[in-house]
Amino acid sequence: MTLNENEITLTLNGESVRAWAPSRMHAADFLRQRLGRTGTHVGCEQGVCGMCTVMVDGQAVKSCLMLAAQLDGAEVRTVESLAEENGDLNALQQAFKRHHGLQCGFCTPGFLMLATSLAARGEPMSREQIRDEISGVLCRCTGYEGIVRAVEEYLQLQQNEGQVVEVEA
Ligand code: FES
Ligand code: FES
Repeated sequence: MTLNENEITLTLNGESVRAWAPSRMHAADFLRQRLGRTGTHVGCEQGVCGMCTVMVDGQAVKSCLMLAAQLDGAEVRTVESLAEENGDLNALQQAFKRHHGLQCGFCTPGFLMLATSLAARGEPMSREQIRDEISGVLCRCTGYEGIVRAVEEYLQLQQNEGQVVEVEA
């Protein structure tokens, strides 16, 4: 901590944490640099690319558009929260792998957290709705088809409470 830093207490991936950040530090840098959650990626830093998407109080947000100080008292989930305790990929991550929803992987944490927030709504979604909902994250590699199929399969899986659903290309 240096002078002019704010104390921030939050729940991060289920754990209570406390750290300090300058008033002008944005939340993405805070998560990466002060809390070591480097799974949250930073691309444009102006709200366009969506790479920095995390969940704050259950909502997907672009963390480069929030100040670190705004996380005080919040419940935050980053991509590090998704894998199972034994390190296995969760069902959403497995769907991305199965459908080739990533290449370089730089955009992937943003899509995973956005899809996690969509699943939390518990509503059925058409492929077109999914395309619309995920349009806030940009991918330069995949052409999006595998990402859309992976998200669709995961949402259907959630709807069907554990039934395995294969989504066709
Ligand atoms: S880094 Fe946040 S939207 Fe691009
Ligand atoms: S997989 Fe490379 S940017 Fe999406």
